[in-house]
Amino acid sequence: MITVNRIGKHLGAEISGVDLSKPLDDDSFAQVARAFFDNEVAFFRNQKITPDQHIAFTQRFGVLEQHVRKESRLDGFPEILVVSNLLDDKGNAIGAQDAGRFWHSDLSYKHEPSMLSALYSVEVPEKAGRVLGDTGFASTTAAYAALPDALKQRLAGLKNVHSYRFYRDKNARAQEAEKARGGRVIQEHAPTEEQLKSVPDVETPVVRTHPVSGRKGLFINEAHTSHLVGMDKAEGDALLAELYAHIVKPEFVYTHTWRPGDLLMWDNCSVQHKATFDYDLPLRRLMYRTTVRGTVPV
Ligand code: SIN
Repeated sequence: MITVNRIGKHLGAEISGVDLSKPLDDDSFAQVARAFFDNEVAFFRNQKITPDQHIAFTQRFGVLEQHVRKESRLDGFPEILVVSNLLDDKGNAIGAQDAGRFWHSDLSYKHEPSMLSALYSVEVPEKAGRVLGDTGFASTTAAYAALPDALKQRLAGLKNVHSYRFYRDKNARAQEAEKARGGRVIQEHAPTEEQLKSVPDVETPVVRTHPVSGRKGLFINEAHTSHLVGMDKAEGDALLAELYAHIVKPEFVYTHTWRPGDLLMWDNCSVQHKATFDYDLPLRRLMYRTTVRGTVPV
């Protein structure tokens, strides 16, 4: 029997009674999909799944994407992005070490941004009995609903630009700053011009209507939004800063503490997320991520 337990005030639910290593019948899949879209973030504990089973489950939701970071894809499984701090025998990063440094929704810089992401935890860092490497999730639909009417009116019809180039530059600057402070040193492959050109900047509405639930949410994020269209830069940046601070107020956030074997899905149309980099080798973190292609934001 499938049960759904809501954890956060506005988002986040644990789904029990599902074994993702086996194909779900249509009725069970429909229950899981409903629970997912209702709760925006949903997770299953104690799953033992292979990359093939991870792919087979998430493919039920739509077409899987292959990340622009080719070097971080899992060997033999281009649909799986490795998110990890581990190094191979030669000392090279086996996956993306810096995914999720800023609040963002996945691949929002694409013409058809990811509808959902499914992250499977293989190894989770732990120190002195405390689990590290949590992921925070914020509901942009709950945040939008709570805005004053005057601000909703100001945002209506407004557009923003999502830019992969902007993100990689911002991330590189943040890494340099961290290194200068004596923090974590991250191996990052600088993107090639070809990779950057494969994801040209896109314009999307600031207020997006969810393609399944019809709920309105804020489709901006501090990682990928370079600016608001048609607005003076300083005024636009001030408005973005105000909205970013609003979105991550504690009442709109669910923070997930991982256990090995968790498969957690989030809805990129209505949720932003952020990783916590509070661990370093020899503490190990290994996660596999798939993303399902979504629709053009309207
Ligand atoms: C991501 O941004 O997809 C990764 C989040 C995490 O590793 O916690």
